[in-house]
Amino acid sequence: MSAPRKLHIKSYGCQMNVYDAQRMVDTLAPEGFVETASVDDADLVILNTCHIREKASEKVYSELGRLRVAKDEAARRDRRMDVVVAGCVAQAEGEEIIRRAPVVDVVVGPQSYHNLPQLLARARTEGRALDTEFPVEDKFARLPQPKPAAIRARGISAFVTVQEGCDKFCTFCVVPYTRGAEVSRPVARIVEDVTRLTESGVREITLIGQNVNAYHGEGPDGRSWTLGRLLHRLAAIPGIARLRYSTSHPRDVDDSLLEAHRDIPAVMPYVHLPVQSGSDRILAAMNRRHTAAEYRHAIARFRAHRADIAFSSDFIVGFPGETEEDFAATLALVGQIGYAGAYSFKYSPRPGTPAADMQEMVAPATMDERLARLQDLIDRQQHAFNRAALGTTVDVLFERTGRVPGQIVGRTPWLQPAHVMASDDIIGQVLPVAITGHERYSLFGTLPAGPGHAAAGARAAALNGG
Ligand code: 5AD
Ligand code: SF4
Repeated sequence: MSAPRKLHIKSYGCQMNVYDAQRMVDTLAPEGFVETASVDDADLVILNTCHIREKASEKVYSELGRLRVAKDEAARRDRRMDVVVAGCVAQAEGEEIIRRAPVVDVVVGPQSYHNLPQLLARARTEGRALDTEFPVEDKFARLPQPKPAAIRARGISAFVTVQEGCDKFCTFCVVPYTRGAEVSRPVARIVEDVTRLTESGVREITLIGQNVNAYHGEGPDGRSWTLGRLLHRLAAIPGIARLRYSTSHPRDVDDSLLEAHRDIPAVMPYVHLPVQSGSDRILAAMNRRHTAAEYRHAIARFRAHRADIAFSSDFIVGFPGETEEDFAATLALVGQIGYAGAYSFKYSPRPGTPAADMQEMVAPATMDERLARLQDLIDRQQHAFNRAALGTTVDVLFERTGRVPGQIVGRTPWLQPAHVMASDDIIGQVLPVAITGHERYSLFGTLPAGPGHAAAGARAAALNGG
């Protein structure tokens, strides 16, 4: 057998890209590729790019500049290094990348990863290869599956893509162009993926999709299933401790999802529900297709079904035409909702999107100042949310050893990192933790006392189903 070839993959952007990167590694494993952390000894380097915000393509070109040096160095040592650009910049600007960057051997869009082995072979025989097609079938159905050892190495929490693409066309967003139309994977495929993961020790699954709560995949009964129904099915898989999903759209919050939060203990009470702005005028210009009041109503419906539910969101400041009054409406909305955390971004025009042609750009200094005010408010809310955990006992799913020797880190239902001193055999278990301290982003606590954590062990056995 020939020596393994080394693959270095660098991923930017969202969870979908993290997941895609893993699936590319799985696709290339049967070709004899193993991952390496260093670019210099790699036979294949993949840049898995993101196009969502600011200067994405410039970043890719400057990275490609560095790779040209590494590739030349490899060539001097009689070693071939292939360079692949994947992800959303590849999809959006593939032809231009081929033209501008001779260092690139293959450009592959997010819908074509299953073709990577053939594209690499083609690059070796014919020169360079580009594939940015949108095939209609489920690309994941054709990707090789990861081996149990690879699953274990990735930890006890895993992402599974259930839906891809977006039909919403928010005016600022490239996703409908780079990821294409909304497609949902069939229920049976998702059940297979989740079962394989849990059989290798995964306890937490995050279902991902650009518009995950618009999920409408085909069920085993031939009908289209909602996300709520899918969550019910997945919760029945042995070994599942926690289910999450991201990212949701306020327009697609249906009763089956709310009922899933009410009825399924494994569905975590933490929802990422981006609103982008609190001003109806700006929401309309963004083509979000909901008002601030409708967003607040969606939040109230979640809360009516599950009292301890918490929310995070995304915000864009400085969308074209945003006045001080519009921005004040955003701050007011944040004040009304009370978030456990949120991401906020300065608006960045994306070529080809409708908002990129809008004229009334907000001055950069105004954007900076608004971003700082919003982030300060969100930070204070996050801090208050974490402080509220002090003195309570919360269930923590333990994931890994911490930086301090003897420390184990897990997450609460609300994704707060929680640290305890314990032996590492609690990794993979859900245990109650008494929260005794906190920092801005993390909690510290203790496991219930008892000889050898007997009490914790018994509770864990009950929680973990055996
Ligand atoms: N400018 C700034 N932020 C953006 N986002 C998406 N497109 C843009 C853009 N053009 C943000 C949105 C989205 C998150 C993933 O990225 O807030 O929810
Ligand atoms: Fe982009 Fe809007 Fe679709 Fe989200 S809902 S992916 S912001 S177009």
